[in-house]
Amino acid sequence: MHVAIFGTGYVGLVSGTCLAEVGHDVVCVDIDQAKIDGLQRGVIPIYEPGLEPMVKANHAAGRLKFTTDAGAAVASAEIVFIAVGTPPDEDGSADLQYVLAVARTIGRHLRAPAIVVDKSTVPVGTADQVRATIAAELESRGVDIDFDVVSNPEFLKEGAAVEDCMRPDRIVLGSREPASIEKLRRLYAPFNRNHDRIVAMDVRSAELTKYAANAMLATKISFMNEIANIAEKVGADVEQVRRGIGSDPRIGWHFIYPGAGYGGSCFPKDVQALARTAAQHSLEPTLLNAVEAVNDRQKAHLFDLFVRHYGAAGVLRGKTVALWGLAFKPNTDDMREASSRRLLQQLWDAGARVRAFDPEARDEARRIFGEREDLVLCDTDDEALQGADALAVITEWKQFRSPDFEFLKRSLRDAVVFDGRNLYEPAEIEAAGIAYWAIGRGRSIRQDRA
Ligand code: UDX
Repeated sequence: MHVAIFGTGYVGLVSGTCLAEVGHDVVCVDIDQAKIDGLQRGVIPIYEPGLEPMVKANHAAGRLKFTTDAGAAVASAEIVFIAVGTPPDEDGSADLQYVLAVARTIGRHLRAPAIVVDKSTVPVGTADQVRATIAAELESRGVDIDFDVVSNPEFLKEGAAVEDCMRPDRIVLGSREPASIEKLRRLYAPFNRNHDRIVAMDVRSAELTKYAANAMLATKISFMNEIANIAEKVGADVEQVRRGIGSDPRIGWHFIYPGAGYGGSCFPKDVQALARTAAQHSLEPTLLNAVEAVNDRQKAHLFDLFVRHYGAAGVLRGKTVALWGLAFKPNTDDMREASSRRLLQQLWDAGARVRAFDPEARDEARRIFGEREDLVLCDTDDEALQGADALAVITEWKQFRSPDFEFLKRSLRDAVVFDGRNLYEPAEIEAAGIAYWAIGRGRSIRQDRA
């Protein structure tokens, strides 16, 4: 099938590549000429495991093309995806300017009947706006071309995007037109093996499904972070509590890891946008607001542990902190809404210097912070420890999971570790003579009990 995809970010580039991989003829469109030039030369703008070889192979095979020529792309496509960004507006609602600009472009260039698919995470009602925008363009051209707008939200996780795309657990399709669902069912047939993963529904329900999924996951995390904070106060170990509740299949093992708060391009933005949608309909989004507030507070929690250890924030002046992790989660170089950013700012405000290491996000950190003398971006985790007083861990990269505690003890002048992801066993790390502060466990619970 002939597919055009607008937007070469995480969602557009990964979806386009996976559709080409299963044999479709895909053209990816972006307004950013430099990005398109780069992609044509095999320069992938994001780090995502498995993506680069797949892009190169499909591009070489002629199934995956990159262009800024929107007109030609639309004119030859039977299915057109909208996968551009929906950044938060000042008030937290999703900014639809890019989505609607693409809709206008589609309306200007459509030559034959097509299905337009919203893959971007967009508020309920956006498909209707896209439909009206395209219809207005067609009318001003004086042409009558049949088209449908389908909502097909994307559920891929950064760091596992290719895998999620190739093996989706569900494919949500929102449209009232049986012919549209049938056509997309054919498009997705190679991904839909063994059992039927297509969940067809009306457009608005599909749009809300995406927000409901992300808000539910964010709620689980904030819930566990609140339990961790209670654990600290009552002297319980939240990791044991986690193991105690996860075995109940109604609760489940996933997304109950307490930590330094959730970040990324989806949860913070989508929880806020859904809360805005509720408020616009005169509903008080009590739970969503709480999920957001707990997360905001949680991002500052690791620094609170620094203050508890040192007795006052002022003691941090002149200290050097090694920071392991910058990305909002492992296997990505993405630092959007990352908890590391809050901690860095708090440490700098307190007069501390930071030596940071992240396996993938150093360039991104350099781009965000530029050159500053209170930040050294190191090439290895050991290098970050050199001359450091304390270690903070904020991203759960696998390589941080089993450090040599004796080496840590010798390297850190104050022999203290602040663990924002609960990676270590308190007894084991403390046996090496290291003061261990974690989320709802370790020293943080014993200090409160004392
Ligand atoms: C999320 C959804 O999982 C995905 O389905 C949707 O399409 C986009 O948003 P992503 O933002 O890539 O994906 O990351 P995810 O793996 O869900 O992690 C989000 C954040 O939550 C990370 O900062 C992570 O560290 C944190 N997290 C996750 C926890 O703090 N605890 C957990 O138990 C799980």
